[in-house]
Amino acid sequence: MSLRLGDLAPDFTAVTTAGEINFYEYLGSGWGVLFSHPADYTPVCTTELGKTALLQDEFAKRNVKVLALSVDPIDKHLGWVKDINETQQVTVGFPIIADADKSIANAYGMIHPNASETFTVRSLFIIGPDKKVKLMITYPASTGRNFYEVLRVIDSLQLTANYSVATPADWKDGEDVIVVPAVSTEAAIEKFPKGVKVVKPYLRYTPQPNK
Ligand code: BEZ
Repeated sequence: MSLRLGDLAPDFTAVTTAGEINFYEYLGSGWGVLFSHPADYTPVCTTELGKTALLQDEFAKRNVKVLALSVDPIDKHLGWVKDINETQQVTVGFPIIADADKSIANAYGMIHPNASETFTVRSLFIIGPDKKVKLMITYPASTGRNFYEVLRVIDSLQLTANYSVATPADWKDGEDVIVVPAVSTEAAIEKFPKGVKVVKPYLRYTPQPNK
C-alpha cells in the first residue's frame, strides 16, 4: 500500500553525503522535505538540486530540513555535488541519500515500475513536525519541479497549523487567506482582529494573520 496524506512518514537510517543520518533525528521537531530524483549526473536533476541549494536559507527560515535521494551510490553523489556547485554556482548544504538498496525508495513508493524499473521518479514529500505526510507530488523525469511552489505550500501548511486558515487558488504570501469551515463566522471575528470579509457564509476571507 502506498503512502497517503496523513500517514506517518517511514523512519529510516541512511548513508548520505553528510554522513549517516536517522531521518526522524535529523528532522527533530521541525518540518521536512524529502525528494527523489532519477539519477546523478543528469541535467534536469542538476538544476533541481542547484535550485534547492539556492533556496537553502528560505527552507531554514521556515524550520524545514531538506533531504534529496537517489539510488546512486555515495561516491557518485560526492562527485556530482562538485559539479552541481560549479555549474549552478551554489554550495549544496543539504544531505543527498544514497539509497543503493532502494529500501527508502520502496517505503515511500518512489519507484514507479511502468515509468522506470530501476530509477526513482521525481517524488517529493513534505513532512510535518508530527512526522505525518502533508504533501506528496510526483513529476516525470523530464520535468524539473518548481521549488518556489514547494515553499508556497510550506507557507500555506504552516499558516493552517498555526492559525487555522486555508489559502485560496494561486495564493501568494501576503494575500488574504480563507477562514476554514470549522470556524464559525462569530468565532472568526473574535480570532482574526484584522477583520473577516464574508462573501458567502462558506466563503470568508481574512488578512494573512502573520503579516
Ligand atoms: C534529468 O535529470 O535530466 C533526467 C533524468 C532522467 C531522465 C530524463 C532526464
